Amino acid sequence: MTDTTKRQIHLGLFLQGAGHHVSGWRHPNAEAGSENFDLLMRVSKIAEQAKFDMVFLADGLTSGVDAHPSTIARFEPLTLLAALSMVTSRIGLAATASTTYSEPYHLARAFSSIDHLSHGRAAWNIVTTSYARTANNFSKSHPGHDERYVVAEEFVDVVRGLWDSWDDDAFVKNKESGVYADPAKVHILDHAGKYFSVKGPLNIPRSPQGHPILIQAGSSGPGQDLAARTADVVFTAQQSVAEAQAFYKSLKERVVGFGRRADEVAVMPGFLPVIGRTAKEAADKLAELDQWTDIKSAMPLLEERIGHSLADYDLDGPLPDLPISDQLRSRAELLTALARRENLTIRQLALRVAAGRGHHIVLGTPVEIADRMQQWFEGYAADGFNVMPPFFPEGLEDFTKLVVPILQERGLFRTDYTGQTLRDHLGIERPALISA
Ligand SMILES: Cc1cc2nc3c(=O)[nH]c(=O)nc-3n(C[C@H](O)[C@H](O)[C@H](O)COP(=O)(O)O)c2cc1C
Repeated sequence: MTDTTKRQIHLGLFLQGAGHHVSGWRHPNAEAGSENFDLLMRVSKIAEQAKFDMVFLADGLTSGVDAHPSTIARFEPLTLLAALSMVTSRIGLAATASTTYSEPYHLARAFSSIDHLSHGRAAWNIVTTSYARTANNFSKSHPGHDERYVVAEEFVDVVRGLWDSWDDDAFVKNKESGVYADPAKVHILDHAGKYFSVKGPLNIPRSPQGHPILIQAGSSGPGQDLAARTADVVFTAQQSVAEAQAFYKSLKERVVGFGRRADEVAVMPGFLPVIGRTAKEAADKLAELDQWTDIKSAMPLLEERIGHSLADYDLDGPLPDLPISDQLRSRAELLTALARRENLTIRQLALRVAAGRGHHIVLGTPVEIADRMQQWFEGYAADGFNVMPPFFPEGLEDFTKLVVPILQERGLFRTDYTGQTLRDHLGIERPALISA
């Protein structure tokens, strides 16, 4: 039986249908498609059988043939979560939605609906949408980096206020008295802010978790502040244990700065495991995937994250000194630091981004992978990991069959779920009504 008081690793499955390595889908054993529901369902069940905390769906609001194969075509994430909630029973269900290209009332209602349908397993990954070209698909201009976060701060507060529209027991449905919903148990938000004016109440009862879990993945100053004030889980991309420890410390200090306990927020870096029976076999596996990567398909991914075209520069020369972009600020900083630290050429950096998009890539035997996770976990560089298999389903099956049992043997990961909701899995309390 899992000792729930003991600090244990949290695991998320970062589900991208064509895998995380840009060429993963070309592997003979790979199945692919972020629009392939049968594959997404089977993979989610594999993660549930391995007792993962959650399955996580990223999202973007653009497409194009140059995009990562996992993102060219994909289901609208909340629609997909509704379907996955019917074929799973315990694993948390996290989806990404934008505060720049959505309305608070719509998102509050959709995530609360998923929380009801899934009996308390919903989570919202709050993004401000970094890519300026997104505005081409919406009748508006793309706000600057810091303004996007100011909008997001207000957006999140409106959504949380709407989630508290009704007391848990408001829907009395008293056939005697004819009272369906108790007027004494409704809370009108009447929000009038700089960017939003939202009256309420929300047209769905308060959900099983009270509030679905909030996730944030911004690592810049404004990103960390939003996360520290509002998030339950923080995703991040970190290259080394030292970088991850520095981010972890900075984020937790901000959490305490907002009057919260440090352990109210779980930090989960992205983690791309390439597993072999020997370290050499693992390295060969990555080399096999890299050999299928055409520099032409790698460059757009790098330029997107650096926020600059590199067309005028020698691919076999160093990354030029460029101003840090207004798009994915922290990712641009991370990749620039990586290129400098390892003296990478533009070509080498592009291939590294094509493999893991700046997240931590770990090659090795199952024991070596488990050792790395234990080092980051016990070194307070992470409270858990967002697992990013290079391709599906084999990349995940290797991890769940070979690495998870080692983590369980060491008492670092649960052997079974002890609760029903995602909050139970994360050990995060159900919030009381904010407006009470
Ligand atoms: C694990 C992870 C997942 C992310 N998923 C998404 C996503 O699905 N959609 C999106 O627009 N941005 C996503 N992002 C990007 C972040 O939301 C954010 O824009 C980025 O980390 C830069 O943040 P910053 O501007 O605060 O530095 C993700 C980031 C991380 C680390």
